Amino acid sequence: MENQVQKKRILSGIQPSGDLTLGSYLGAIRNWAALADEYDCYYMLADMHTITVRQVPADLRRHTLTQVAAYIASGLDPEKNTLFVQSHVPAHAQLGWVLDCYTMFGELSRMTQFKDKSAKNADNINAGLFTYPALMAADILLYQADLVPVGGDQKQHVEICRDIANRFNGIYGDTFKIPAPYIPQVGARVMSLTSPENKMSKSDKDPNGCVYMLEKPEDIMRKFKKAVTDSDACVRFDPAAKPGVSNLMQIYSVSTGKSFAEIEQEFDGRGYGDFKKAVGESVVELLRPIREETERLLADKAYLESVYRAGAEKASRVADRTVAKVYKKVGFLAR
Ligand code: TYM
Repeated sequence: MENQVQKKRILSGIQPSGDLTLGSYLGAIRNWAALADEYDCYYMLADMHTITVRQVPADLRRHTLTQVAAYIASGLDPEKNTLFVQSHVPAHAQLGWVLDCYTMFGELSRMTQFKDKSAKNADNINAGLFTYPALMAADILLYQADLVPVGGDQKQHVEICRDIANRFNGIYGDTFKIPAPYIPQVGARVMSLTSPENKMSKSDKDPNGCVYMLEKPEDIMRKFKKAVTDSDACVRFDPAAKPGVSNLMQIYSVSTGKSFAEIEQEFDGRGYGDFKKAVGESVVELLRPIREETERLLADKAYLESVYRAGAEKASRVADRTVAKVYKKVGFLAR
């Protein structure tokens, strides 16, 4: 329609590198579904990023398909959101290479995730792990995204994306929209249950530190009951002095909608045992419908296939336009 105002655009993604964690749910996916009416939303499965760390091929395929189902089960209606697999849209690799040539060695060396991952994978510090932020910049810039909803740990990558876009625009004139990170106030950094100074992550060495979105209720409860707290037996929000308890409070606040003051009051004079049980139960109830719906969807492979195929087509139309524009700007001869 002539007077229709173009909706602002959103792009985000998650690596299908394993089972989805409570961290990615609270920091990212949970916030996505509510954006669909106001924004034009693109959510990808970042499988090309995933191979920066060695994967078992069959597992990668299974995790990718499960993640498509989990996206839908978390409220992302495929009619209102474009859900697609990164490797299905060749434009990501195409723009990724071009942006590699506009990204500096020094700025990549400063990336926290690169430093962490190269410490954890000392026998496989490959070039992809290093240039990963340039590919992530391509993911975002291809769609001319306004906002990138992510957890706090990805903020640095959105910032380098802005630097790369500004650099490119500075040389060739307006090409890319400059995106902004969109980080939730609570839940942006969910910490490990057993070492609350580290972020909750599927690469946590202690299997009790990380809760998975599709995990069985009894396993979730067991992990919360074992969660590390402290010795002063008081439920109070103080991330520096009480990291374990504060992390549990964050999780409980997001799962129940209660404020920190309400939580402190609720558990005033009660022991940590009661508190940890309540947090576990709130997470079980939060995730139960998602797990059940994911399982139901996984039984319908044809439907899931139709979703990601349609998503890839729609995403390609937008992404290819950006690649064409960029190829022309940098001086590639038209085919
Ligand atoms: P990934 O796959 O590590 O994580 C996916 C999303 O979940 C958030 N997250 C967390 N939030 C709070 N607490 C935690 N413990 C926690 N763990 C994970 C992450 O911040 C992220 O939002 N590079 C990205 C994937 C990606 C991407 C993109 C994201 C590729 N291209 C383009 C946005 C736009 C990554 O590795 O996220």
